[in-house]
Amino acid sequence: MNNNQTVLSVKKLTKVYQRADKKVEALKDVDFQLFKGEFLAIMGTSGSGKSTLLNILGAMDEPTSGEIDFSGVVDHQNIFKEPYATTYRRENIGFVFQSFHLLKDLTVEENIAMPLILKNVDFATIEEKVNELLELVQLTKWRKHRPLELSGGQQQRVAICRALITSPPLILADEPTGNLDFNTSHSILDIFKEINKSMRQSIVLVTHEPYVASFADRVLFFHDGRIKNEYQCREDSSDMERIMHEFKRILESPL
Ligand SMILES: Nc1ncnc2c1ncn2[C@@H]1O[C@H](COP(=O)(O)OP(=O)(O)O)[C@@H](O)[C@H]1O
Ligand SMILES: [Mg+2]
Repeated sequence: MNNNQTVLSVKKLTKVYQRADKKVEALKDVDFQLFKGEFLAIMGTSGSGKSTLLNILGAMDEPTSGEIDFSGVVDHQNIFKEPYATTYRRENIGFVFQSFHLLKDLTVEENIAMPLILKNVDFATIEEKVNELLELVQLTKWRKHRPLELSGGQQQRVAICRALITSPPLILADEPTGNLDFNTSHSILDIFKEINKSMRQSIVLVTHEPYVASFADRVLFFHDGRIKNEYQCREDSSDMERIMHEFKRILESPL
């Protein structure tokens, strides 16, 4: 969905981790743009730098060099410094993680409402939004339950609602189906697709699986901290095979 309205522009991003005895270059000159309403998959093997990238996009970690321009954010230099980092995250980002990260002592509806409670939004508005989201993911009957009474797929649906409740410009999802079986993964990916299409929700999703990447509009292939290529999905049954083929080619070519 390239209408040239950019949500995010990433320029020459690098990240070097300094370990006791050696440096790890986790990101090397990463450049890309995310367009409004785009569903972007970042695909790479374990250790290729995907989580590092997502953590930096969400201002949970600082890059070594390079820039992120986020539409609507005036002071781009400061997004990695507190208290701006927290504000940036609350205003702009909804996170979905592999392991759900729900608060186990709170009910489903309380977990979903939490980001708005933290923003001091009035109760009636919160209630309305929670109801709407519970309907969207078909969990209305489960609203008074606690996360541990739910299946993994249901817990991830709660996490998606929590990410959506502030209507953030961007959803960041790190291996959101990594703990789920095939059928459950499919239903979670259908929800991502649905919110992308119906709400024009911009999404960056990280995965190592071609099948998962095939739900996106566009795939960036990551290898050893670099973007090696990209693939524009055709939205037909050939996508998965083409993604798999390209990924294999990249892994087999010299660095
Ligand atoms: N906090 C850290 N300190 C040192 N090295 C790290 C840290 N986090 C990640 N790395 C290293 O950076 C590289 C990329 O990791 P990561 O972004 O987690 O990859 P992925 O999510 O694709 O599996 C790996 O070599 C990993 O060991
Ligand atoms: Mg990771």
